[in-house]
Amino acid sequence: MKTTIAEVHKYVGQQVTIGCWLSNKRSSGKIAFLQLRDGTGFIQGVVVKAEVDEAVFAKAKSITQESSLYVTGTVREDERSPFGYELAVSNIEIIHESVDYPITPKEHGTDFLMDHRHLWLRSKRQHAVMKIRNEIIRATYEFFNNEGFVKVDPPILTGSAPEGTTELFATKYFDEDAYLSQSGQLYMEAAAMALGKVFSFGPTFRAEKSKTRRHLIEFWMIEPEMAFYQFEDNLIVQENYVSYIVQSVLKNCKLELNTLGRDTSKLENIKAPFPRITYDEAIKLLHEKGFDDIQWGDDFGAPHETAIAESFDKPVFITHYPKTIKPFYMQPDPEREEVVLCADLIAPEGYGEIIGGSERIHDYELLKQNIEAHNLDLNAYKWYLELRQYGSVPHSGFGLGLERTVAWISGVEHVRETIPFPRLLNRLYP
Ligand code: 4AD
Ligand code: MG
Repeated sequence: MKTTIAEVHKYVGQQVTIGCWLSNKRSSGKIAFLQLRDGTGFIQGVVVKAEVDEAVFAKAKSITQESSLYVTGTVREDERSPFGYELAVSNIEIIHESVDYPITPKEHGTDFLMDHRHLWLRSKRQHAVMKIRNEIIRATYEFFNNEGFVKVDPPILTGSAPEGTTELFATKYFDEDAYLSQSGQLYMEAAAMALGKVFSFGPTFRAEKSKTRRHLIEFWMIEPEMAFYQFEDNLIVQENYVSYIVQSVLKNCKLELNTLGRDTSKLENIKAPFPRITYDEAIKLLHEKGFDDIQWGDDFGAPHETAIAESFDKPVFITHYPKTIKPFYMQPDPEREEVVLCADLIAPEGYGEIIGGSERIHDYELLKQNIEAHNLDLNAYKWYLELRQYGSVPHSGFGLGLERTVAWISGVEHVRETIPFPRLLNRLYP
């Protein structure tokens, strides 16, 4: 019976054949332990000299790391392994012999591993992170579909810049200037006026010269946008969504979290509602914590976000930022013109901002003034302004950065391990 490692639990006591690779091996004169992987999972194959043909045992002892194989054996339950099963091997067929696989079981430096990302992805740790990423994407579609949202795909090649003009990747669109999208938001606002509640999931690009553990040049964002939702309604969607993905990972990725050594007790209480503090309160909290330099009107950096998050055991919303440090489209607070109806959601444990969101300006004149005040080209935003000319309504939305969220839930230090092929400052290879 040909099967996969993920399916072996169905064949306990039976003989199966698995197409796989050898990830590691240990052997003595009498027994060989093969660490096998097939993409769906990892399993140990045990080859006992006294129980197999001489040629099979000789093969087991000589196979090289990452050779591809068909391994045949009987599935056994094994309480000692976290996976719960092992394979009593009876035959090995080598498909392709791998010679001098560069990533050996010894420790390698990060640059070396990043240069071999196409192979590093095969490791148990990277496999676990990719499975958690996949679960978050799966749970995202499930959550928004359950809530009546429609998935809409905004363009990647655009003529407008929602998040400021300094971080754009410019390209040519035949004779016109174009940019790679830094956010699908403006298009999602148009979609919300057509479909009510919408969400997008796609790559976004920021030509940001930041070299931190939280920054990628190319990252994936989930961007919901809801007609008739105001500031408070928006926060409720966010806390329910983030709780849903954390609980889905806890339920469906136990093995992966275990592989990564993640302390899951810190994730178990991630359930709505989340705490909220205003920007003013955050400034006060920072002063109490000894950040004497920060003043009202300054944006928060990573150390500030980390210090604020330390006071909470769930993600925390920081609301009502000064409008001078936020984009042009955010709705001012009607009771206090100098702040906007926005919130950033800061993850616990130092992972920083995972969501940025706000209520959007729905008044035509105010939006036009802001576009002009930000020195943006009115012609490029003509269509966006027209959304405020034909049945404008209050609406809100947000963007969740997938890689920062994967990093937080997986407990991996740096976002470079949370995307298959990270695009970083100075890294376009592989
Ligand atoms: O806060 P940002 O810039 O918000 C927007 O783009 C809005 N237009 C979203 C919306 O309202 N529809 O980005 C949103 C999130 C951040 O909170 C962060 O998680 C992630 O995207 N992000 C990055 N992730 C990795 N690398 C970068 N360079 C990132 N920049 C933002
Ligand atoms: Mg932001």
